[in-house]
Amino acid sequence: MTRKILVTSALPYANGHIHLGHLVEYIQTDIWARFQRMRGNTCYYVCADDTHGTPIMLRAQQENITPEQLIADMSEAHQRDFGAFNIAFDNYYTTHSDENKAFAEGIYLQAKADGHIESRTIKQAYDAEANMFLPDRFIKGECPKCGASDQYGDNCEACGSTYETTELKNAVSVVSGSTPTEKETEHLFFKVNDFKDFLSSFLESGAVQKEIANKMTEWFETDLKAWDISRDAPYWGFKIPETEDKYFYVWLDAPIGYLASFKNYCDNNDASFEDFWNQDSEAEVYHFIGKDIAYFHTLFWPALLNAGGYRSPTGVFCHGFLTVNGQKMSKSRGTFIQASTYLNHLPAEPLRYYYAAKLNNTAEDIDLNLEDFQQRVNSDLVGKVVNIASRCAGFINKKFDNKLSASLHDPQLYQQFIDASETIANFYEQRKFSQAMREIMKLADAANQYIDEQKPWVLAKDENTLASVQDVCTQGINMFRAIICYLTPVMPALSAQSATFLNQPITRWEDLQTPLLDVSIASFKPLLKRIEKDSIDAMLAENTKPLEIAKTPTKKSNKKEKTAPSTIDIHDFSKIDLRVAEIINAESVEGADKLLQLTLAVGDEKRTVFAGIKDAYQPNQLIGKLTVVVANLAPRKMRFGLSEGMVLAAGSGDNGIFLLSPDSGAKSGMKIQ
Ligand code: 2FM
Ligand code: ZN
Repeated sequence: MTRKILVTSALPYANGHIHLGHLVEYIQTDIWARFQRMRGNTCYYVCADDTHGTPIMLRAQQENITPEQLIADMSEAHQRDFGAFNIAFDNYYTTHSDENKAFAEGIYLQAKADGHIESRTIKQAYDAEANMFLPDRFIKGECPKCGASDQYGDNCEACGSTYETTELKNAVSVVSGSTPTEKETEHLFFKVNDFKDFLSSFLESGAVQKEIANKMTEWFETDLKAWDISRDAPYWGFKIPETEDKYFYVWLDAPIGYLASFKNYCDNNDASFEDFWNQDSEAEVYHFIGKDIAYFHTLFWPALLNAGGYRSPTGVFCHGFLTVNGQKMSKSRGTFIQASTYLNHLPAEPLRYYYAAKLNNTAEDIDLNLEDFQQRVNSDLVGKVVNIASRCAGFINKKFDNKLSASLHDPQLYQQFIDASETIANFYEQRKFSQAMREIMKLADAANQYIDEQKPWVLAKDENTLASVQDVCTQGINMFRAIICYLTPVMPALSAQSATFLNQPITRWEDLQTPLLDVSIASFKPLLKRIEKDSIDAMLAENTKPLEIAKTPTKKSNKKEKTAPSTIDIHDFSKIDLRVAEIINAESVEGADKLLQLTLAVGDEKRTVFAGIKDAYQPNQLIGKLTVVVANLAPRKMRFGLSEGMVLAAGSGDNGIFLLSPDSGAKSGMKIQ
């Protein structure tokens, strides 16, 4: 029976680029959706950008563009990255759409009419200078527990404690720098507790992994707290109907974006929205998400759907976080890798394979160990899989005019490949991709072992055995085809290239049941390159590369022609945190004839920076001077010590070096806008 399936991945926030951590989920979902389609099921995969909220409003203000422009630019960038990783959405939409507004309003008004919305006056942090209420993330101060500075309003990254914003010491608004006050305001709440029994059975239904369901059930020991779904103006989002100036909190309309994206798809294609979302729908709906947003997806979201008269998801599948080389992704270690940075150095599909080889149906974290990645891709994909084709194709191409034999040399062995079909399919179905990859690699080992034993290269040397080379290689190529068929959900591009070589499309799971016999194949072209360590190193280096604003002068800087700097957009520029710094000490560096070691005061913070300005300045000339520093440059280990930033200077060693200084009145620590 053909199943009707709708899958989604979490909607990426329009405030940042896609990184390798995000990709775990999109690759996982895409593999599963492609697998379903290969099995002959109808499977739609929809997603969208999550576009509302304070961070986007403020970022747009900062960049002097409209939020519409900001989210349009980010949507384009997201879709470009997803496309490059072969994530095949049926629809990629936006939460800032008419459809989403209509669904959000519809669900809210229905919930209100049924008594599930209440209004309450609460006290909230307020920035009187910027005239706005402040979300926790926009208040910083000293941790009330350990005293660490520069901590967010809700938790301390230094000691891990959580607290109320009001407990934060010396709190400042990130928006204006002023001290936040408290102000009363009326908010609207969704009474999640009205859905307690419904949610309890939803969690027991098997729709959510046990470990996650157990965690969520802990909340049921007491009443579920009503969920604050409104925000005051100014806010970037949808206005709440029947209010003057209240807006839906971004997390309300974000999951509703799943409905909106699918509705938009149905309106433009031959698919029925109602078939999937009516209460009595027989279709299956699955949300793939990260474990950090399980609360929203297994409590608030089913309750909202229920309030709006829609069916519940068939499954909410949580995955874990990505670590890189065993540690949390980190900007200073260079392991916070954006999708586009990865793609500058490495091909997309090996990462799809590596993630598949690591993923299972639990919410355990997965580790991208870059050495293991290189080794695994080279050994499994290049050494085992592609090698089967390259060992056999040459003989068929050159000695048999591209023609495959009319029968298999070892039908029993091929039968083993067919017999693996349901085991592998079950692993895919249950999202046990690592086990599926293991089974597939076992087949690749069997195919290589067969070729090792048959030795077509020896058979080809003797006229009497030459004919059997065609049979052996036909067998080899058919085993290769079966393996590629099984790998198609993971490596669609490799599969498409292989289909070209085989002169036969690979689109359905059962394609491998009938071997390719007595037909011509095309000439073999290398299908995958080995991954070199240099590429990985270059990717990491790009990630930690200092921004080339003011290069320290070098001996070779007397070239006449300079390449024009490549353009960057405003998003790139806004990543650079330029600050006024006071030079509080300057010293020569032993063993470095161009460098000075500067001690900078950036606000209250002290930094050491090495700058190649010794030709132009005596150390004592500099002390007390104000200059401009790139404050968020990843620290660089130099021979003489750690450099924690970069000062900006004009010119080069040949025609003078001129340190930039702000106009009088500027104070150390000020941000350069
Ligand atoms: O966590 C996030 O990045 C959110 N943008 C995910 C939203 S998923 C769905 F609810 F829209
Ligand atoms: Zn602390």
